[in-house]
Amino acid sequence: MPGDGIGQEVIPVAVAVLRAVLPELETVEMPAGWEAFEKYGASVPAETVTTIQACGAGLFGAVQSPAYKVAGYRSAILTMRQELELYANIRPVISLPNVSPRADVDMIIVRENSEGLYISDEESDGETAIARRRITKSGSQRIARKAVEVMEKFGRSRLTIVHKANVLPLTDGLFRDTVRAQIPSHFTVDELLVDVAALKMVGAPQTFDTLVTTNLFGDILSDAAAHWGGGLGLAPSLNWGDAIAVAEPVHGSAPDIAGKGEANPLAAVLSAAMLLDYVWDRPDLAARIQQAVASVLATPLPAKNRTALTQSALLQTLGENHP
Ligand code: NAD
Ligand code: IPM
Ligand code: MN
Repeated sequence: MPGDGIGQEVIPVAVAVLRAVLPELETVEMPAGWEAFEKYGASVPAETVTTIQACGAGLFGAVQSPAYKVAGYRSAILTMRQELELYANIRPVISLPNVSPRADVDMIIVRENSEGLYISDEESDGETAIARRRITKSGSQRIARKAVEVMEKFGRSRLTIVHKANVLPLTDGLFRDTVRAQIPSHFTVDELLVDVAALKMVGAPQTFDTLVTTNLFGDILSDAAAHWGGGLGLAPSLNWGDAIAVAEPVHGSAPDIAGKGEANPLAAVLSAAMLLDYVWDRPDLAARIQQAVASVLATPLPAKNRTALTQSALLQTLGENHP
C-alpha cells in the first residue's frame, strides 16, 4: 500500500529490495490513504483490509491527512491499526554511519498502538473541548507481552516504562503497574516520567535499551528518537498484532518534497526488513538489508534523484554480496 505523497516513491524501492533477498515473495498492491478515500469513500477500503488479513503482512507508505475534520474520514494508518488489532508499534532506533549525530544509540521503543488518546473520543460545545484517554488492564498486559517478546528476540535486558502517573494515577498508574507485573524477573525494569524521558532522549539517548509507553507518548518520543537514527528518512516501524503486521516508515507523506524524486527510501526499506526480522523469522535476510543500508550510507548521496540513486546502490550492494 504505497498510500499518498512520497509513499508512492519509497514503497516500490522497499519492495524491490525485499524481492532482491526473497525472490519468492508474492505481493499484491492495494489502495489506502487520502487518495483512496477520495476515490472509494474509505481510507482503507474493505477489500484492502481483507487482503492484508489474507496476506498476514503489509507494507504501507504514508497517508496525507487533512488537519481538520472531514465527514467519514479517518486516517488510513489509524484505521488499519484499529481494524487489524495492530496493538503494538515497534520503533527501533540505531546509530547509522554518516547520518546519525552520535554513534552509540541502540534502542527499541515499544509504543502501545490501540488506546490512550488515540481512541479519538472528543467532544466540544465550542467552549469546552474534551478528549478521553483510555487505558485498560488487558491492553497494558498485551503491550507488555510484546515488549518481553521483543527483548527476548533481540537479547535485550532492560525495560524502561514511560508514563505520567504523577498526574494521571488512575490511567498511567494502571499502565505502569500492569506492565511491571508482566515482566519476568530476569529483566531489569525501571521507569521514567515522560517529561524526564524526553530530556534523556535529547541528552543521553545512549542510555536507553527498550522502552514501553502509551500511544501518544510513544508517538512523540519516537520522532525525537528518530533524530539519533539519522532523521525521519531513516526511521522504520512495525505495527504488530497477534496475527498480522503492517510495516511502515515513521515519516508521513512529505508534501514539501513529494513528486521530486528526493525522498529517502531507507526508512521504508528498513521497515520492510522488520517484516523479515519480526514476522517471517528471517533475521539473516533482514541483516543483509541492514548491512546494505549501512554500506550505501557510507557514500553520501545528493538530494537530487535520491530515491532512484539509493535504490540502485542498494540493489548493486545486495547483488555483490549475495551469499
Ligand atoms: P512528514 O513526515 O511527512 O514530513 C516532515 C519533514 O520530514 C518534511 O520536511 C519532509 O520533507 C521530511 N521527510 C519525511 N520523510 C522523508 C523522507 N523519506 N526523505 C526525506 N525527507 C523526509 O510529516 P508532516 O509534514 O508533519 O506531515 C505530512 C502529512 O503526512 C500530514 O498529512 C500527516 O498527517 C501525514 N503523516 C502521516 C504519517 C503516516 O502515514 N504514518 C506519519 C506522519 C505524518
Ligand atoms: C505515526 C504518525 C501517526 C500517529 C499519524 C499519521 C496518525 O504520526 O505513525 O507516528 O500519530 O500515530
Ligand atoms: Mn508520529
